[in-house]
Amino acid sequence: MTKVWTVNPQQVEAADSELQEAARLIREGKRVAFPTETVYGLGADARNAEAIAGIFTAKGRPADNPLIVHLAHRSQISDLTDRLDETSCRLMDAFWPGPLTLVLPAKPGAVAASVTAGLPTVAVRVPDHPVALRLIEAAGCPVAAPSANRSGRPSPTRAAHVLADLDGRIDGIVDGGPTGVGVESTVVEVVDGVVHVLRPGGVSAEQLRRVASRVLVRGELSAARSGSGDSAQQSASEWQAEEEAPPKSPGMKYTHYAPQGRLTVVSGEAADRISAWISGELRRAKEKGERTGVLTFDEHRTLYSSKADVIVSVGSIHSPESMARHLYDSLRSFDEEKVTVIFAEAIEEQGIGLAVMNRLLKAAGNRVMFV
Ligand code: TXA
Ligand code: MG
Repeated sequence: MTKVWTVNPQQVEAADSELQEAARLIREGKRVAFPTETVYGLGADARNAEAIAGIFTAKGRPADNPLIVHLAHRSQISDLTDRLDETSCRLMDAFWPGPLTLVLPAKPGAVAASVTAGLPTVAVRVPDHPVALRLIEAAGCPVAAPSANRSGRPSPTRAAHVLADLDGRIDGIVDGGPTGVGVESTVVEVVDGVVHVLRPGGVSAEQLRRVASRVLVRGELSAARSGSGDSAQQSASEWQAEEEAPPKSPGMKYTHYAPQGRLTVVSGEAADRISAWISGELRRAKEKGERTGVLTFDEHRTLYSSKADVIVSVGSIHSPESMARHLYDSLRSFDEEKVTVIFAEAIEEQGIGLAVMNRLLKAAGNRVMFV
């Protein structure tokens, strides 16, 4: 049985008994999903190997994909690492609490070996969400929490998404309403003072550059265009700076976030060319008996009227934040509508748009059409 507690994030004090109960379950080695500012996480005591094994089983997650450890206070960082470089400290000053995860040298034995998938590093963040902070504080332990979806599915931005994937497989869910940012945290590792972005996310490259002078990040569309979809196989020359290839984030090699239908991302300079190409493909797909969908923007919706069975907008073309917030919910809605073929318009890789394109390309298994 999965227990659900409903908590108003604006009034966490009023939900003290619910959050204490959820925290007690975590202390007892159970698995409890909770909202963060990015997506819902599936939390367990990071020091308890059995509890962590339960997370991998519930999600169907490959054992070589390590978990992020969530803290309520930055001061707890000394429990997890005893080597903090100056750049990492500056990043924490600037972005914690918030959607930035730092990969740091792990203190041996600080967390269960399965949390780090046997790596010498540990990924850590302090989330910016009153429910998450209260719960982690009450649990009194570092809380390992991957996104609370079945492995490969879009990450959950609402408690209903968590239930759709994990009902009966986890012990509880704290329902704190929809999350804010909508895509996961940015994962970075600082190597010799250079910030390597292992996974783009809620903190943009532009924001990182305001704090650290050297930030390495890959353009997702340019990488797709050069034909190497798998970041694990990217050569150093495909990165924007001519420095050595960045360290890898194990999770980035897996197909992720995928809806059940076959998704293709369509990129190009001119909106009318994109919509004309998509419209032609929609017609062909319909003739083959497919149920068709388009992922577009408020401003472009009418271009597809009566051409697709399901038209979903991620928000205004002028608001990458809104696209991030609605992306996963939109991808899941195609499944609810049993759509079999989906076309998605690419967005500009500015700000959080880079993370949106990263997720969209992964959801499409890197199927991208340049028109
Ligand atoms: O916003 C988020 O980060 C959400 C919320 C719940 O906090 N969590 C999340 O966790 O997205 P998950 O497990 O879905 O993604 C964790 C990512 C994976 O790509 C994983 O490979 C990477 O972080 N990661 C974890 N530990 C790492 C390490 N020691 N070195 C490199 N990458 C690591
Ligand atoms: Mg995930």
